Amino acid sequence: MQGEALIDLSNVRKEFESVTAVDGVSFTIERGEFFSLVGPSGCGKTTTLRMISGFEASTDGTVFLDGVDMTGVPPDARDTNLVFQHLSLFPHMTVGENVGYGLKKEGVDANERDERVTRYLELVDLGGYKERNPAELSGGQQQRVALARALVNEPSVLLLDEPLSSLDRKLRKQMQVELRKIHEKTQGAFFYVTHDQEVAMTLSDRMAVMNEGRIEQIGTPEDIYRNPASPFVANFIGDTNLFEGRARTENGATTIDLGDGSFSFRYDEEISDGSVIVSIRPEDFSIANTDGMLEGTIVERYFQGDQTNYTVEADSDSLPDVRVVIQGRDTPVSRGERAAFDVQPRAPVVFEQDVPESRSSPSTPTN
Ligand SMILES: Nc1ncnc2c1ncn2[C@@H]1O[C@H](COP(=O)(O)OP(=O)(O)O)[C@@H](O)[C@H]1O
Ligand SMILES: [Mg+2]
Repeated sequence: MQGEALIDLSNVRKEFESVTAVDGVSFTIERGEFFSLVGPSGCGKTTTLRMISGFEASTDGTVFLDGVDMTGVPPDARDTNLVFQHLSLFPHMTVGENVGYGLKKEGVDANERDERVTRYLELVDLGGYKERNPAELSGGQQQRVALARALVNEPSVLLLDEPLSSLDRKLRKQMQVELRKIHEKTQGAFFYVTHDQEVAMTLSDRMAVMNEGRIEQIGTPEDIYRNPASPFVANFIGDTNLFEGRARTENGATTIDLGDGSFSFRYDEEISDGSVIVSIRPEDFSIANTDGMLEGTIVERYFQGDQTNYTVEADSDSLPDVRVVIQGRDTPVSRGERAAFDVQPRAPVVFEQDVPESRSSPSTPTN
């Protein structure tokens, strides 16, 4: 089994009576990886996680853990542990008893239990809290107790389902940093489910972007941000502008026309003539001195210190409003003013529409 992935989902499906919650999902996670499954609410993330944990049986396909087919293996016989959004610490037990509860049930003797509880409470930075009651702790501290409880029996795989979403924004940021540190101190794989693309980008070694029961792309956060595989991914991961347009090639040179063609650019990759969707990130625009590629009027302007966000109403009615981010403290244009913008070469990502079945839709390289 050497070299096998720790988690391996092969074409896994889950159908409930009337919905296909998970529609043929495949991915592998290596030992030690922090892997996130990210997508909008209802896309099938929790169902996927529950099939890994064994709380849900797949309708089709196979879950392998450490090379072993898990079909029919109950949750408590799998080398996985779960942390949920709504933690459920026992209120009548101390923090230490909460963390040690599973070990006690397994029959681990008191000395070893105590040693491990102490070690894992220290790991989550709650060394002095063993004798406290859960009610005396803050939300973030309680969440760390839940983590210690899930880690204490040293599972190969920790499954986390939106564990930070009940925390306020500031605490959530702190806990992200802590989670990453805790992951680095353990040798296991973390499988993290979230609808929050910012959290997934911050935490993950690799992530899978899910939409309507399917995986649209798997890769590092950088890969996915730079080379999104579909308009959905471009829009869901990070902020972008999506335009409808057409590709046309004349004398060997391809031009992409957006809207009625008043905004167009040269395109150096091979593409068939026809309809396209184009993604251009706000930070890929720059202010042009004279005539730029895109001209319009600034209708919104938010100064944010190190950058300024603009909304530009394009002169052409055939174009949507465009979001532009200009780095630096200078704010060369004000609200109500006209401005011209250029786009960094090679920044636009072009998706062919209505492509023949034999060709894949993204024309940028992806994994
Ligand atoms: N036990 C169930 N019975 C019927 N439908 C379910 C059940 N669990 C989830 N679903 C449906 O499956 C889809 C995916 O749900 P879920 O995996 O919870 O999504 P997510 O975690 O991404 O929000 C949704 O349409 C949801 O309503
Ligand atoms: Mg869910």
